Amino acid sequence: MEYVYTSNSQEDTLSFAKQFAEKLNKDDVIILSGELGSGKTKFVEGILSYFNLENQISSPTFTIVNQYDAENFPIYHFDVYRLKNISEFYELGGDEYFGNGLCLIEWGEMIEEALPEKYIEISFEKSDVNVRTIKICYRGVDR
Ligand SMILES: Nc1ncnc2c1ncn2[C@@H]1O[C@H](COP(=O)(O)OP(=O)(O)OP(=O)(O)O)[C@@H](O)[C@H]1O
Ligand SMILES: [Mg+2]
Repeated sequence: MEYVYTSNSQEDTLSFAKQFAEKLNKDDVIILSGELGSGKTKFVEGILSYFNLENQISSPTFTIVNQYDAENFPIYHFDVYRLKNISEFYELGGDEYFGNGLCLIEWGEMIEEALPEKYIEISFEKSDVNVRTIKICYRGVDR
């Protein structure tokens, strides 16, 4: 199933992401794809705000993965842009996070072969300076 949303501002993206987060399960794997500055981190911030964690967000560009603790489970926020290949992802134990917390993976299409069978793909397109086309695709996930 695919769902398309047009966001007209960063606040719009934040509130849409917060609403989207209501339906998430603690073991979901979500990949966020789209060019630099298309709103992937902003969307993650919106998800975190649903769990009252938005103040803790920092970009995992250099660390590859950051952990935030929701009330009953961890949230793992990845940015795999800097990984050279899939082996580097396995070396840091990346796939062991799947199923053990909510996983949000910026540039996740780069590690597609390591992804579980069921995941949610969110793609972002810069349609104008402040406009983003956000597509949500449930891959193998019933929702
Ligand atoms: N409708 C919108 N939704 C989200 N962000 C927007 C929107 N309009 C403008 N912006 C701006 O676009 C930028 C998005 O930055 P963000 O860090 O979320 O991108 P990103 O996709 O994570 O980039 P990167 O690939 O570098 O990690 C922010 O500066 C934000 O203010
Ligand atoms: Mg980002």
